[in-house]
Amino acid sequence: ATVTYDFNISWVTANPDGAFERPTIGINGQWPIPRIEANVGDNVIVHATNQLGNQTTSLHFHGLFMNGTAHMDGPSQVSQCSIPPGSSFTYNFTINQPGTYWYHSHTGGQYPDGLRGPLIVHDPESPFLGQYDEERILTVSDWYHEQMAILLPAFNSKGNPTGAEPVPQAALFNETQNLKVAVEPGKTYLFRMINIGAFAGQYIWFEGHNMTIVEVDGVYHQGAEAEMIYLSAAQRCSFLLTTKNETTANYAFVASMDTTLFDTLPADLNYNVTGWLAYDDAQPFPEPALVDELDPFDDITLLPYDNQTLFGEPDKTISLDVIMDNLRDGANYAFFNNITYKAPKVPSLYTALSAGDLATDPTVYGGYTNAFVLERGEIVQIVVNNLDTGRHPFHLHGHHFQALYRSAEEAGTFEDSNVTEADFPATPMRRDTFVLYPDGNIVLRFRADNPGVWLFHCHIEWHVTSGLIATMVEAPLALQQSLTIPQNHLDACAAQGISTRGN
Ligand code: C2O
Repeated sequence: ATVTYDFNISWVTANPDGAFERPTIGINGQWPIPRIEANVGDNVIVHATNQLGNQTTSLHFHGLFMNGTAHMDGPSQVSQCSIPPGSSFTYNFTINQPGTYWYHSHTGGQYPDGLRGPLIVHDPESPFLGQYDEERILTVSDWYHEQMAILLPAFNSKGNPTGAEPVPQAALFNETQNLKVAVEPGKTYLFRMINIGAFAGQYIWFEGHNMTIVEVDGVYHQGAEAEMIYLSAAQRCSFLLTTKNETTANYAFVASMDTTLFDTLPADLNYNVTGWLAYDDAQPFPEPALVDELDPFDDITLLPYDNQTLFGEPDKTISLDVIMDNLRDGANYAFFNNITYKAPKVPSLYTALSAGDLATDPTVYGGYTNAFVLERGEIVQIVVNNLDTGRHPFHLHGHHFQALYRSAEEAGTFEDSNVTEADFPATPMRRDTFVLYPDGNIVLRFRADNPGVWLFHCHIEWHVTSGLIATMVEAPLALQQSLTIPQNHLDACAAQGISTRGN
């Protein structure tokens, strides 16, 4: 089937924590923005019209491979020019993946202003179909009272030489507080939980109920019991939750922001947001008890449902060191190795399409894109060494990766460790966003089976704006044979005086 959405993107006002009303980015006059829903195999068309007036925009469908439609992936100046105010742009793609995703602006630090919402792909052949009665979608997020137009210039300035990220004012469930999720006794629910926040990882637990994790980031895994999960910005987790047999009480569930990410802890900050499993509205809605320990389920222990085995030894290893440092302007930047990403003028995908044989030369993508050219079909390993003291959730566009290894905090670099091939799991868990600990390292592996230009970046939006991004240019010559860019995409460039004939 074809599912069509007409999205008018414009400013609206909202006050989700009841403390402060502010402009947020809505769709069709609404915020929270609508959910995108489809079935596996559907063709999805999104007609996006930018009515913001003062900002360009774009939409990224986080976690979708965009196989054969790399130009529909969304990041501005990567797979498209950003959409100028007053104009329209059509995304058209087929979804062949089941599960829990989201969509968000991928332009200039914009999504924390509200352009972020669930994208659910239903699967008539899900192996878990018979095991639950109903579904519930739950987003968790952090929320700022100030607009990004105010926060960003201050963050990326010499007035902030340490790169301290703005601390959010609140956390939200489904972009609100005091959320009551109606449940019935003796049923099993599939909860699809999505962290659509800009910065904070969240510890999440349900009082009196256990979770059985069955999917993360669109990949089915063998059911795993958890009392508490951790979701970084951009991660998703689906779990089965079975309700009590009686309706004599309501139960709190909590998301607690990971305050280790925050440089300062404002005295008035409430790190927690509470919601309730509402069995009976006539019963009280109790405050949650304090927990003594934040000890979440470790996602690397999950086993993929399909038992996909460890990819063989890599054809190519890309080793990236995460470094935070100042530049001559006195502001703090984030680096992979010695490069802090700066978006090129011409989208990197268009450069790949127009550069002929030179498209396999990483230098044609410009000096600040951190471009790596991948050959079709090769096994690629990404090692990330954190030389920084913060946690970073790393996301790869266009793929799921196998997560082979994550060191403890303070473990140093992977190259200096004694970890070898024999230490990697036989059937590694897979997802698209994976957390790296302070001064630690991670090892990821994937097969370059999806020609396109795919970003690899920290999903903390502050770090996107300060440059913690690399560009994977995958099989550019194959792209030249297969992709045709629609005229409305080229028009977005032309309207901004951007030539699409290469850098
Ligand atoms: Cu959620 Cu670059 O993406």
